[in-house]
Amino acid sequence: MLSTDGINLTMLSIPCVKSKLLHDDQSTKIIKKFADPDCFQKNCDAVYSNFLSRNVIVRHHYFTHYLEKYQQKYTQVLILGVGLDTKPDTLACLRDKDVYGCDLAVTDIKQIYQATGVKTKTKLVSCDLKNGMNQEFLQRLQEHGFSRDRPTLVLWEGGTFYLPKKSVLHDLKFLNQNLNLIGLLVDYMSSTVFNPPRHTKARKQLELVQQIGCPWQSFFTATEIEQFYQQLGFKEINVSEHGQIEEKVWGDVQLDYDIMYLSATFKF
Ligand SMILES: C[S@@+](CC[C@H](N)C(=O)[O-])C[C@H]1O[C@@H](n2cnc3c(N)ncnc32)[C@H](O)[C@@H]1O
Repeated sequence: MLSTDGINLTMLSIPCVKSKLLHDDQSTKIIKKFADPDCFQKNCDAVYSNFLSRNVIVRHHYFTHYLEKYQQKYTQVLILGVGLDTKPDTLACLRDKDVYGCDLAVTDIKQIYQATGVKTKTKLVSCDLKNGMNQEFLQRLQEHGFSRDRPTLVLWEGGTFYLPKKSVLHDLKFLNQNLNLIGLLVDYMSSTVFNPPRHTKARKQLELVQQIGCPWQSFFTATEIEQFYQQLGFKEINVSEHGQIEEKVWGDVQLDYDIMYLSATFKF
């Protein structure tokens, strides 16, 4: 059995949800060797109306839609804070794409793949997105085969809020300046729900992530996100409130409508 000690529990919670609700075989294999993989997921769902489970499904559908829709426009994908994301190995639209994933926890991620026998096509490169998005990181990515010139889509799912706002803005600006970026798929936690917390559930959610050593640090409004993308020169800008997608995917809205923003922005 693998121990969850020292493992980023937010990272492990995602395959727990995908195994249970999407019947994703790769996720099931990843969590199978852990004694208690879903402890954080259960606690999180308990404090806030199944937020974690509902959100993982919502964003999976949202980002998959855009990965599929524009599959002719990009040949490589860079996933920031990739964790144990199974999309590169399970989505047909990514079958012929080169996928690179960076994370603070690359050593743990590689160990989990090795211990479970699960293979991933994602080329894993370590990076601290707080202050490590720089030329040296790009150099290491290139050593793994990444090209600065090929049309690239960047996916940052379930990750911006673990970093200070300054780092989030820096990282996206840097990638925009240094890659042949065709689009960004990114989600952000809402400042109107969490900063300050709108109600007890929001406060408890913040306490929970603080307790496991992964405090949420950045919160955005839809206007901030849209203005930032305009500054970066993006043409097609989609910013959706979580509730819009939750209604489509789940058939009803149980979370705060504006709990999170999901964004998809493109250069064409
Ligand atoms: C909630 S998980 C999401 C993982 C993945 N994107 C998914 O949707 O399955 C957040 C991920 O961000 C990573 N992360 C947190 N802080 C980071 C940092 N400073 N630099 C790089 N990665 C970080 C964690 O290690 C974790 O894998």
